[in-house]
Amino acid sequence: MILAEARGYKGLQMDENNASVESWEEVILIYNSAMKEMVTRLEILNNEFQHTHSYNPIEHLKSRIKTPESIVKKLRRHGYESSIENMVNHVKDIAGVRVICSFTSDVYEIAQMIMNQSDIEVISVKDYIKNPKPSGYMSYHIIASVPVYLSDRKLDTKVEIQIRTVAMDFWASLEHKINYKFDGNVPEEIRTQLVDCAARIRDLDDRMLHLNEEVQQANSQ
Ligand code: GTP
Ligand code: MG
Repeated sequence: MILAEARGYKGLQMDENNASVESWEEVILIYNSAMKEMVTRLEILNNEFQHTHSYNPIEHLKSRIKTPESIVKKLRRHGYESSIENMVNHVKDIAGVRVICSFTSDVYEIAQMIMNQSDIEVISVKDYIKNPKPSGYMSYHIIASVPVYLSDRKLDTKVEIQIRTVAMDFWASLEHKINYKFDGNVPEEIRTQLVDCAARIRDLDDRMLHLNEEVQQANSQ
């Protein structure tokens, strides 16, 4: 049903241009380009770190384009009709990049470096590491636009960047699976356990960070 709607979506007229099929494909092409642009910038930062400090702050990078089904679902959830205009204006995570770091300090450093780039416009920042969600979720979220250069124009395009540690990612993926299994209605007892696990993960991240700092200091003496 949703898929049918997503397909119907292509047929919707976007504006006076009357070029809806091309528009859908063009929109995805642009978001895909923005995603690649952001991934490359993050890889460059990681390579530079490797070169200057012999150290990789990024453990791995994942990226994805939101499926038409979930774009339509999100628009409906927020009470918007399925149109390209609504999708561009109201769905800020069509292009998503996830950055997994070793240490919490790396999360903040990478976030700062990407936000400092002069042609990147930061639209919003949510620091769920400083202020975890009630579920226990921890991550640093940035919505930022990056320029995409086409043959005849430049389009600043939004990308959602989620930055977190390996341990935070471990928690988030298990919690996501549990939520899926219970269709969002996770029993209280399991939710409490997840909150407790999140607290342990924070403690573990702190200890690993301090341990690493001690080792670094010992090495530099
Ligand atoms: P969405 O409508 O879900 O995109 O949320 P939002 O627009 O309020 O933004 P928010 O920054 O809260 O969440 C964006 C994304 O972060 C989600 O799509 C998930 O990928 C992730 N996320 C947020 N909260 C949780 C959580 O409690 N658990 C897990 N596993 N992921 C979460
Ligand atoms: Mg989302």
